[in-house]
Amino acid sequence: MNNNQNTESGNLQKLINIGRALSREKNINILLEKILIEARNISNSDGGTLYLLKDDNRLNFEIMHNESKNIFYGGSADKVPDFFYPVKLYIDGKPNLNSVSAVCAIEAKTINIKDAYTDRNYDFSGPKGFDKKHDYRSKSFLNVPLKNHKEEVIGVLQLLNAKNKDGITYYSKEIVSLVESLASQASIALTNQLLIEEQKLLFKSFIQLVAEALEKKDKATGGHCTRVPMLTMMIADSINTTNLGPYAKFQFTDDEMEELYVAGWLHDFGKVATPEHVMNKTTKLECLFDKIDLIFLRFELLKRDIKIEYYESKFKNVEDDLSSSNLKNKLIEIDNDARFLKDCNIGGESLSDEMKSRIEKIASKKININGKVVKFLTKDEEENLKISRGTLNKKDIKIMQSHVSLSYELLNKLPYPNHLKNVPFYAGCHHEKIDGSGYPNGYSGDKLPLQARVIAIADVFEGLTAPDRPYKEGYKLSKAMNILKYMVKNHEIDKDLFNLFVSEKLYLKYAKKHVDSAQIDEINEQELLV
Ligand SMILES: [Fe+2]
Ligand SMILES: [Fe+2]
Repeated sequence: MNNNQNTESGNLQKLINIGRALSREKNINILLEKILIEARNISNSDGGTLYLLKDDNRLNFEIMHNESKNIFYGGSADKVPDFFYPVKLYIDGKPNLNSVSAVCAIEAKTINIKDAYTDRNYDFSGPKGFDKKHDYRSKSFLNVPLKNHKEEVIGVLQLLNAKNKDGITYYSKEIVSLVESLASQASIALTNQLLIEEQKLLFKSFIQLVAEALEKKDKATGGHCTRVPMLTMMIADSINTTNLGPYAKFQFTDDEMEELYVAGWLHDFGKVATPEHVMNKTTKLECLFDKIDLIFLRFELLKRDIKIEYYESKFKNVEDDLSSSNLKNKLIEIDNDARFLKDCNIGGESLSDEMKSRIEKIASKKININGKVVKFLTKDEEENLKISRGTLNKKDIKIMQSHVSLSYELLNKLPYPNHLKNVPFYAGCHHEKIDGSGYPNGYSGDKLPLQARVIAIADVFEGLTAPDRPYKEGYKLSKAMNILKYMVKNHEIDKDLFNLFVSEKLYLKYAKKHVDSAQIDEINEQELLV
């Protein structure tokens, strides 16, 4: 009695300890392995298999052990080989009653087999084939279903060949109930982890959907939002693995890596609200359409007016200075002006003061529209054409820059778990610069954590090399890297990260996957290091 009590309390303690250990395990593969190991220990089994039930109603071999044959698959060991086909629960719509593990899952019941070779209920040709190949004898099998919080079967724990001092025996009633208790503990731990994994997968898919939504709006932005997190994680992995430089002893935790991944994917989330005509403004006069066509029309009008004036004066026989050669010159001048404004509208190179004065001169010319004499260019057209660099005017730039504040504002509305709480901050800092000259907050130095600096460098490098921008070709690696170096020297981008980017050849690893091969040119790493 005392002995029994001791054994019972001993077993209870064992189960409690196992339950605790299982609930602490966060890695699902290791958890599965631990479940099988503990089940084998508690039942003194030579082998066993842990199956998980997949969506297609098949039991997948996750972990397989056979101690006397030194076979260990799954978990911390190699994956279970593909020739162990998943067990179908249903064949042609009918329950697979031949397979003991399938019946265990379908009927959610424990099945205890004393000897597979004498059993008449199930087909054990699989284990028999294994026995032949490995000179083994599969005898006793114990199959226990694993059930989730909704009492649905999520897997099967199958133990093989219970051992006692005389050799292989069958599973006693006591062992069966012990394994069932362990299975229910294991099911709780497993269900928790599966639910967490499901949540993570759902969230991961959801954040990737943001990039897809942006891609529907603008292909290049979608590509950018997909590539920046990849480069971000490439840099973060390198920080974790490098043995050199300032990051040799630094490691991001798994939680920090997840947080960075999410922030990377969502960094430009605010662009969902950026008007398309600003986001894709390919010329200076483009709004919902390119207003240069209106200006061309005005030039035509101007030419027609001059011609009319010429013929009228001829008709009236009035001696005028509008001679035919004068007319010709005026028409040539108009065509030249039109070509000049067409070039200015593209915004490819920066405008000189001389060019700006010429725009002003053209703008101040007069034209008769609907009987009203007005300036040739409107104030808005003149201002846009005089944009010094690129195609965006001050108002456009403000709208574009507001995407970062909006990223922060929108992302800040989500109820993050603790380990993701910095996502809005990291995402909202990707246009900040080390010297405080960035936006939206002008944060500098220590206010910018490493995570924000990583996203910032990834954002710039992707932007420079992007092969899919409609208005500019992706830069060659040498040009992009030199611009990055310039930004480092200008205290805009983190120096240590840039040096890591160079010395670990991250620029090249990234480029090989994500930019056109024509952009990959020779790089002198020694010259680049800062
Ligand atoms: Fe951005
Ligand atoms: Fe970005």
